[in-house]
Amino acid sequence: MAGNRTFTMIKPDAVRQNNIGNILAKINEGGFRIIAMKYLRLSKEQAGAFYEVHKERPFYGELVDFMSSGPIVAAILEKDNAVADFRTLIGATNPAEAAEGTIRALYATSIGENAVHGADSDENAEREGGFFFSHLERP
Ligand code: RTP
Ligand code: MG
Repeated sequence: MAGNRTFTMIKPDAVRQNNIGNILAKINEGGFRIIAMKYLRLSKEQAGAFYEVHKERPFYGELVDFMSSGPIVAAILEKDNAVADFRTLIGATNPAEAAEGTIRALYATSIGENAVHGADSDENAEREGGFFFSHLERP
């Protein structure tokens, strides 16, 4: 059975472009409830640890530099079928390929600086939520 929670980040590009409010509105309009949320800047070490799964990918260094380049918003979201439905709401990794009306089509600028993160499985949603939030902070 699909879980009902996912994990997201509003990335530094979208924060710099003052799109936090627009993106949170899209998230709510998409039927997601915000369970936990915080605004913070990751160090290079923290961004590197979060994206450890991509360590061998050619874009890893660029990704870590970008994700530590400014503050982000991290949040746990709730909805039926949350992981898959949120991936649909954000659109393809490359905004040029993202469906019309998706968050990345609206607010991303490139494949690297693509406005939002969405967990890709229930297991990763749980692990990523745990990276940012204590049990006390995620009821
Ligand atoms: P995310 O994890 O951020 O939700 O994105 P995703 O699943 O759609 O894409 P993924 O393959 O997990 O890649 C993670 C992030 O790395 C950056 N990236 N850059 N330059 C490139 O070719 C490239 N490819 C990926 C993006 O920021 C992507 O979201
Ligand atoms: Mg991913």
